[in-house]
Amino acid sequence: MSAQIKGHSRHDTALIYGLSASEVQRLLETCIEAKAKAYCPYSHFRVGCSVLLTNGNVVQGANVENAAYPVGTCAERVALGTAVVQGAKKGDIRAIAVATDISPPASPCGMCRQFIREFCELNTPVLMYDKDGKSTVLTLEQLLPMSFGPEKLLTTEELANGVSQ
Ligand code: THU
Repeated sequence: MSAQIKGHSRHDTALIYGLSASEVQRLLETCIEAKAKAYCPYSHFRVGCSVLLTNGNVVQGANVENAAYPVGTCAERVALGTAVVQGAKKGDIRAIAVATDISPPASPCGMCRQFIREFCELNTPVLMYDKDGKSTVLTLEQLLPMSFGPEKLLTTEELANGVSQ
């Protein structure tokens, strides 16, 4: 049986980010499904992530740990990296969902927030699901205020013209 959306004050927030109820349901189901694929023999902390693209596709990821602990990778970067190598560009990502087994829900780590920043708009909603499928929704900008992104860097033209300050 598929996971059901549980009532939560923050749930309706996802709808105002332009996501339909069925898209929210799909994000919920796919990130929970992805969580089941986590390779986390060291932390036993399962994380699943799903990325909803503007073309309707969903790309999943889960955390993949390593015996050399720092080498392990978070679910968000696995999912987003997969979307990127499948051809997703900035502007192609409608929403990101993350599921864990805790409550209140976990939020993406700092490194993942910055990784998301590279490929998503500041108003991209990040849906964070707790162990019961209840969500908290924040935008990328709320998760990572005053962020640094690719548009802050000098353009190739500026670099060629020697503009450095
Ligand atoms: N983890 C994620 O996958 N995403 C996060 O944003 C936070 C942490 C993973 C990394 C590690 O495999 C486990 O959760 C415990 O830190």
